[in-house]
Amino acid sequence: MKQRGTMLAMLVGFSLLTVSSLMAEETDIQGIYKKKCAMCHKADGKGYEAMKTPDFTSKEWQASRTDEQLIETMTKGKAPMPAFEKQLTPEEIKSLITDVVRKFAE
Ligand code: HEC
Repeated sequence: MKQRGTMLAMLVGFSLLTVSSLMAEETDIQGIYKKKCAMCHKADGKGYEAMKTPDFTSKEWQASRTDEQLIETMTKGKAPMPAFEKQLTPEEIKSLITDVVRKFAE
């Protein structure tokens, strides 16, 4: 009986761990990039020529856009990139630009 209680406690503990790591992922900006952006922009931000995604590691490209412009494009979309205003919060979009996209060129 005692053992069963321990097993149960462990099970509950594991499920709590899983739930909290899932929740942590939602606000993990790198995680969002991997899940929603990397398939078109590549994990290293260089993009795919065939898709015509910009090279985020290029300083020239970075200098050609302001944060506001990038936030606007991501919010409203620019074909074939979908609009993200319904999928992400304004804070997440801003953070994707300042903490992920901008960091590729540093
Ligand atoms: C379906 C493919 C696709 C997905 C998914 C996608 N993008 Fe894009 N993205 C593109 C393409 C293609 C362009 C180039 C559009 C153009 O300039 O015509 C682009 C352009 C951009 C630009 C430059 C915008 C500008 O003003 O020049 C940024 C920044 C960007 N994407 C960030 C992201 C982020 C962050 C995500 C994930 C939340 C994402 N994209 C998801 C395809 C995608």
